[in-house]
Amino acid sequence: MSLSPVSSVPEIRQRLNQLRAGKKSIGLVPTMGALHAGHASLIARARTECDCVIVSIFVNPLQFGPNEDYQRYPRPLAKDLAVCEAQGADLVFAPDVSDMYASPQLTYVDVTRIADHLCGAFRPGHFRGVSTVVLKLFNIVQPDRAYFGEKDYQQLCVIRRMVSDLNVPLAVVSVPTFREADGLALSSRNVYLEPAQRAAAPGLFRALGAAREMIEAGETDAMKVKAAATKGLAADAHVRIEYFEIVDPAEVQPVTSITGPVRIAAAIWIGKTRLIDNVAARSASE
Ligand code: PAJ
Repeated sequence: MSLSPVSSVPEIRQRLNQLRAGKKSIGLVPTMGALHAGHASLIARARTECDCVIVSIFVNPLQFGPNEDYQRYPRPLAKDLAVCEAQGADLVFAPDVSDMYASPQLTYVDVTRIADHLCGAFRPGHFRGVSTVVLKLFNIVQPDRAYFGEKDYQQLCVIRRMVSDLNVPLAVVSVPTFREADGLALSSRNVYLEPAQRAAAPGLFRALGAAREMIEAGETDAMKVKAAATKGLAADAHVRIEYFEIVDPAEVQPVTSITGPVRIAAAIWIGKTRLIDNVAARSASE
């Protein structure tokens, strides 16, 4: 039987109440659709750990800025349902904007400090939109576990902190970034790239790798690492670097001296497409 999406909040609640009554553990994979192998790896992980796997598909207007790609964001629902089915999802929750925001939203979740740097500095209101919709999804689905990708590392930190600060009764599970063979992290936005732009895109992961190598070889000066690692990327005419930062792994605050575990995170523009990526590194001087 093929999966048919549920869009109404009361209906999804009723379906999930039945599952909970049967003592089934519930795993939630929140997405904005345009599903690719990265999303599939989250669903597959949930499948191994939960009795019931629910994927939400909702392009959340609250997390897009006025000049961002909310309108043109891809919405291939039939293809997405096939991906969910192939990965063994039990339920797909695909609400309309009017289902999620039945009345104007007056209540927001702001995870301060963690949202201040990296993407937060360039996308005002973005993480407020993310944390608010994710808490709504948590309250609608009430999962035992919720799955997030390391690909969006700052988002993962924001959600972890929200869950901890607000005592949300669930476990956040993080899943490693799924990459193409040339290192490019899978993203729903990669479809925007023209061939020459696509060829430039793996430069982002190469630069992050170069930074990691320097740190693991003992360089502790963040400025030096950033300057050396971004040389190739900065010289590429297709690329504009938005930020390239070395941050502490819990609160994603920029560090100047690298003495312990860090996360190296970057955002670049290739034409009208914004790509983000990050890797972990551990100082050799520890
Ligand atoms: P979206 O960009 O669709 O991503 C959904 C989930 O898939 C996120 O947890 C993201 O980190 C993960 N993901 C994306 N690309 C990945 C990759 N290459 N490897 C592993 N995981 C990957 O992130 C969002 O949607 C939204 O902000 C959302 C949390 C759904 C709130 O609206």
